[in-house]
Amino acid sequence: MQVYRLANAAALAAVVVGMTLGIGVAQAKTDYFIKDNGKAMIPPPAGWTSAVPLIAKANVEKGNSYAQSVCGACHTMTKDGGTRFGPNLWNIVDRPHAHVTNFNYSTAIKNMQMRPWSYQELDSFLFAPQIHAPGTRMPFAGIKDTQTRADVIAYLRTLSDHPKPLPK
Ligand code: HEC
Repeated sequence: MQVYRLANAAALAAVVVGMTLGIGVAQAKTDYFIKDNGKAMIPPPAGWTSAVPLIAKANVEKGNSYAQSVCGACHTMTKDGGTRFGPNLWNIVDRPHAHVTNFNYSTAIKNMQMRPWSYQELDSFLFAPQIHAPGTRMPFAGIKDTQTRADVIAYLRTLSDHPKPLPK
């Protein structure tokens, strides 16, 4: 019992410290859900577990076929692919939000223009677009399965002449 209470107190302390810092100290650094203001959402949305730790070993082929069939309805993903209902996704990892010129982004995404699409932000957005970017015009419920999200993000990473380093 004593041990249990101590563990509980430590967890509570970690949450309090985490809230002060704006990130969850109890979690690994890459392991938090990012809100529209760029800060960690604590607690994260129900059902979310970070896909970031799974990206390095994710299945790019599965991510590819998922992306072609689901995202491809609205996005082109080739180098000079144009705009569909959504913007082109070439080089999306680490590229600033709302980067495609001539695409009529929502204010929600435009307001994040100063921030790159890090692995964390992609994970948050693709889990729940409306929680990461309230008011986004992307009419997509989100990928709730963590492994599938990791596969898709690992595939998005390959859409580049110089893919970004994999997250640890
Ligand atoms: C029904 C159409 C639709 C589907 C399906 C869809 N998207 Fe989108 N997506 C959009 C639209 C529209 C936007 C622009 C959102 C805005 O401006 O708020 C967008 C924006 C994005 C952005 C931000 C791009 C930027 O330049 O900042 C990313 C990343 C993205 N989508 C990835 C995906 C992925 C990955 C999938 C598949 C899992 C997907 N989308 C499925 C329509 C869609």
